[in-house]
Parts: sequence; C-alpha cells; structure tokens
Amino acid sequence: MHEGFTLWFTGLSGAGKSTIARSIEKRLRAHGAKVEVLDGDEVRTYLSKGLGFSKEHRDENIRRIGYVCELLSRNGVIAIAAAISPYRAVRDEVRARIPNFVEVYVECPVETLAARDVKGLYKQALAGSIQQFTGVSDPYEPPLHPEVTVHSSCQTPEESADRIWATLEHLGLICFDRSALAHE
Ligand code: ADX
Repeated sequence: MHEGFTLWFTGLSGAGKSTIARSIEKRLRAHGAKVEVLDGDEVRTYLSKGLGFSKEHRDENIRRIGYVCELLSRNGVIAIAAAISPYRAVRDEVRARIPNFVEVYVECPVETLAARDVKGLYKQALAGSIQQFTGVSDPYEPPLHPEVTVHSSCQTPEESADRIWATLEHLGLICFDRSALAHE
C-alpha cells in the first residue's frame, strides 16, 4: 500500500545517492509498488541533454526533474530523484509544488569523497581541469530541514536505506504488510 510521493536525494557527487536510491527502488518493487527513478547522470543524457553545470543550467535540470516527479507522484507513482541539486532555493521551489515531498540529504565530507574518487572527477576538479565542480570549486547548500539525513561515510547503503524506509513508514507514506513481499 502506498500513495504517490517524491523521494528527493541531494548530496555531493559520489556520496551514494544513486546507490541508496536504487536500493530503495528495489525494496519498493519487491513490495509491488509503482516506482520510477530519475537519476542525474541518466536525466542529463535525455531530459536535460545539452545542459551544463552553471547555476542556471543546474536549476533548469532540477526544475525538469521536479516537473516529472510532480506528474508521476500525483498519479500514484513513487518518484525517486537522485541529483546533486546543490541549490536550496530551487529544491524548495520543487518541494512547494509537490504535496508529498521527502528530502533525503546524503551527507559525506568532501575530503572522503575526494579520497575515494570513484569516477576520478575530484582529482580533475582539484587540478582545475573540471571547473565549477560541486564541493571543490562550486557551492553546495545542504538542506536545513531535510526529512531524513544519512551519513554515507559511516553507514552502509543498506543501513541508509533502512533509515529512509523507517522515515517513509513514520510519515505514513508506505504501509506494507511484511508477509506480503513479492520477492525477498
Ligand atoms: S546537478 O547539479 O544538476 O544536480 P547532476 O546530479 O545532474 O548535477 O549531475 C552530477 C554528475 O555530473 C556528477 O555525479 C558527475 O558525474 C557529473 N559532473 C560533471 N561535471 C560536474 C560538475 N562541474 N559538478 C558536479 N558534477 C559534475
């Protein structure tokens, strides 16, 4: 049992937004839920193709993702967005348009991300070969009142997903019979 809502992941590149989002998606699908994930990297190859990383373009990217989330969630689908979404004002703009909006802050110190550097982008950003890189040479404004914060430097993705799942239950957005799992 669920209603439509939007689960919005924000945080630095490499913090684990997509991994945790996919874990939640998998759990929801196992319960038979209707769910769609809008992932920043994927969205930028289709819906936001051609947009760059200036503030203006990032805000446009977030508005587009927010618009699709709004359409999905008002039709009973669970929309999951995973994008850096570094600017608070545009996140709050999207929040204001969507009745059931749940913001998840995936917190991780930039030093940890730069040391891990899964995609090799922090090294390039620190060397100056990628400009306007979030957390290095471009701002990131953490949410002031997210519904839930997870700390990916000290929690596993599964632990973070558990915490988010508990928040969704607490908010009354999901209510699944534990014996009614489709697969698990
Ligand atoms: S957002 O700022 O508009 O929300 P989005 O989540 O779509 O960003 O895209 C972020 C991804 O684009 C990063 O994970 C990284 O792989 C890539 N990327 C390329 N250039 C940059 C940059 N200058 N800043 C941040 N991410 C970048």
